Amino acid sequence: MSRFYITTPIFYVNGDPHLGTAYAAINADAFARWHRLLGDEVLFLTGTDEHGLKIQQSAEEHQISPQAWVDQTATRFVGAWKELAISFDDFIRTTQDRHHQTVKKFLTAIYENGFIEKGYYVGLYCVACEAYYEESELLDGNRCPVHERPVSEMSEENYFFKLSAFTDRLIELYESGKIQVTPEFRVNEVLGFLRQGLKDISITRTSITWGVQVPWDDQHVFYVWYDALINYLTAIGYGEDDTRFADWWPAVHHLLGKDIIRFHAVWWPAMCLAAGIDPPSQLLVSGWLLVDGAKMSKSSHNQIDPLSVVRELSSDALRYYLLSATSFGSDGDVSLERLRATYNADLANDLGNLVSRTVALIVQKLGGRTPPVPALDERIEPLQAMWLEGVAAWNEFRPNAALGAAMEMVRFSNSLLEQYEPWRQPVDDPASAWCLGVVREALRLATALLIPAVPDASAGVLARLGWHELGPLEWVAGGEVCELARAEPLFPRLVKGGR
Ligand code: MSP
Repeated sequence: MSRFYITTPIFYVNGDPHLGTAYAAINADAFARWHRLLGDEVLFLTGTDEHGLKIQQSAEEHQISPQAWVDQTATRFVGAWKELAISFDDFIRTTQDRHHQTVKKFLTAIYENGFIEKGYYVGLYCVACEAYYEESELLDGNRCPVHERPVSEMSEENYFFKLSAFTDRLIELYESGKIQVTPEFRVNEVLGFLRQGLKDISITRTSITWGVQVPWDDQHVFYVWYDALINYLTAIGYGEDDTRFADWWPAVHHLLGKDIIRFHAVWWPAMCLAAGIDPPSQLLVSGWLLVDGAKMSKSSHNQIDPLSVVRELSSDALRYYLLSATSFGSDGDVSLERLRATYNADLANDLGNLVSRTVALIVQKLGGRTPPVPALDERIEPLQAMWLEGVAAWNEFRPNAALGAAMEMVRFSNSLLEQYEPWRQPVDDPASAWCLGVVREALRLATALLIPAVPDASAGVLARLGWHELGPLEWVAGGEVCELARAEPLFPRLVKGGR
């Protein structure tokens, strides 16, 4: 059996989840669900990044202890992910003891291998990014390129990771494709960065206490990014359960946003090499969700609250919109208006109506008994091509193409109904039975492509059409007879001002 290990970035708990962070979780969830459909053993890991200066400062602002603060906000992430139907297998919190233990073991291995040394650091730091910047990377007025806020000068004695020792090996790993980057154009960005040469980086802090203590020097805590990346190993038993670790590593798929590519594509593989383990095998790099061209983020005050969309419509509607309206890897501009329009056009009109119409026709014209699924022939060949394109698209991490293929199957089926007009034909007409048998099977396979995006309503589609379970992921002629009955519409149409 194949295994599929997928991770999201772990989320900062300095605020509530927003649509941008939900986007990472929804993409990863869709890939996890697709691989479960394929029959793979899936491990889907998500969680929260709870250390560092940013969190310590948020807690101070709210006048509570950092632990009390992260306990509150982490719970809100778990709750939000449940409302968004994020089917994670493990939710890691970096304040958990299991994580502290792993960080200590992993970084001790790097220390013992001679890749960590003491030094003195002076640099320009963005607290919101929890990262040092070179002056050349900053905007006018020494402002951070991501948050557009001034950075501050920090100086401290700390431990350094000898990142520079790994430049050539990393270049080789990307050039040879041993670490895959999806979409591919991001590899050039990584290689460009590597070819400039790497500097050693400071990985501990004495100025804060909210972090994992350095095992060999209790004056220091690890820099938050250093501890955070290691979460990917904590969940699979690094240093704890070698068999489990070997089962899941290094065939991992790390999903991340383009803003954190350097940490994942440069630091993280170098850390793995320094500790003596293989680097991760794939990075899935998403673009940003934009609102009117600007990145949606807590600091820009332009957020769309994912949970208010769930309450107005459904998590399916939100998930479908985000996955179909953006091309994974590129930036995508989103709006509530377009979300509602997509819901009406694709889910309520095309899919919802087709399901209702098919069920109604089977009830009226075939006495409610499902017709057998016809064998594929040239009349319906396009359906097979669309299905195969949808499968390839999910396998290649292209959700919008997979959903596009599902909707093409839906529209092809609608046009088949228009062509055969079963409503004009007598009861038990063979051509109508053929057409309805085709449409019902096409809907089953289109639903397979939709499940990763629209998990809740997909179950409703299958149930209305008399499928007790999804069944094989291929066109299957024949099939048992089931009795269908009319049911409520799956996706009530939205009218202006509400449903
Ligand atoms: N804690 C770090 C990740 C550590 S992983 C070892 C972090 N957290 S974050 O909460 O700021 O961001 C988490 C993810 O959400 C990142 O991949 C980031 O790219 C993504 N997004 C945040 N805003 C986003 C958009 N507006 N659009 C798409 N993704 C965005 O970084």
